[in-house]
Amino acid sequence: MKPFSVLINILLLALIAACSTENKPSHKEPVTKEDLGELLFSDPILSQNNQISCASCHIPEYAFSDTSALSKGVDGKLGTRNTPSAMNQNARSFFFHDGRAETLEQQAAGPIENPVEMALPVGEAVKKLNKNEAYISYFKKIYNKRPDRESVLDAIAAFERTLETSNSPFDRYMRDDTNAISASAKRGQQIFNVKGKCFDCHFGPDFTGDEFKNIGLYNGNDLKDAGRYEITKDRADIGKFKVPGLRNIAVTGPYMHNGMFKTLQEVIDYYDTPQKFVHGSINVDTLLSKPLNLTQQDKQDLLEFLNALTDDRFKAAVQKRNS
Ligand code: HEC
Ligand code: HEC
Repeated sequence: MKPFSVLINILLLALIAACSTENKPSHKEPVTKEDLGELLFSDPILSQNNQISCASCHIPEYAFSDTSALSKGVDGKLGTRNTPSAMNQNARSFFFHDGRAETLEQQAAGPIENPVEMALPVGEAVKKLNKNEAYISYFKKIYNKRPDRESVLDAIAAFERTLETSNSPFDRYMRDDTNAISASAKRGQQIFNVKGKCFDCHFGPDFTGDEFKNIGLYNGNDLKDAGRYEITKDRADIGKFKVPGLRNIAVTGPYMHNGMFKTLQEVIDYYDTPQKFVHGSINVDTLLSKPLNLTQQDKQDLLEFLNALTDDRFKAAVQKRNS
């Protein structure tokens, strides 16, 4: 064969390959509502410009959180709050940093309609799904009806309820594998529970009691997000935010409602002496009124403990974040 015809052949083969992948759906056909929810979660069809999906901000590799302080929505628009992990939500009774949604179904409508996230009324998103033959057939099989608001939100929430993690070194330690965490992490657990007072707010299987607390990140000056107060208008709630769970915390940074701390070291330094970082905090919880006086060793141990709360499946992400 002449070089020219070899080239033509290669081009033809490439074309055939491209066409056949185009005809094959890039996903497995969903069988359960959880599968369907997973498909919707990563499909930009739910956004105004067909470019942003839930997974754009809740990146599966990083425990369904984002690696930047603020996430980009449609047309690169930025919101004002950090993207939390969408994992381990099963036992939660409030969603969003200010707890303004009470169910995952209700929550899911929020980002679709938010003008700086996906910017599409849910009704419009449903209309788009009703023009898509594949989705129509999936919804008919799974819900016995065409896509509607209820089934779309139900499927997304059902998928999110599968996102539970329970295989961290700390979980194995709690299941009697005494060597699953280091001596340093064991000391760190003590600091977490006693000297650091972390356990007073971060407790239970997911390290949150689902309460709203003020750790000093509101001063009405450079820190203006009043958190829970925006929802309740109760002055006692000024500066309170939902206590977040701490599972997979090593891969979900930046941290806090506004992503102001990049690393867990910074978070620990903050809790040690909050007043050094934020001036004029309003309505701070009394647990944070005195410096903790943590030693360098205490801080290192606490960090080891927090790292041990991260599921094995995110090992690769931990390495990427540390490099
Ligand atoms: C542009 C980025 C972005 C997109 C797209 C996005 N989210 Fe979020 N998500 C966020 C941010 C930021 C918050 C916190 C907002 C707040 O507290 O006001 C959040 C909060 C959440 C929470 C609450 C977690 C908690 O701890 O309370 C869940 C669950 C969630 N999103 C699921 C979804 C789903 C489902 C979709 C798609 C339908 C989605 N998100 C799309 C950025 C995004
Ligand atoms: C008074 C209750 C309280 C105490 C005590 C407390 N926390 Fe928190 N923690 C919170 C709240 C509320 C937030 C969320 C604040 C925000 O979003 O602005 C938070 C956020 C965090 C975050 C960031 C989570 C994320 O996903 O962004 C980490 C990590 C953390 N705390 C660890 C600790 C450690 C370690 C200690 C002990 C040294 C501790 N906390 C003590 C209430 C508390």
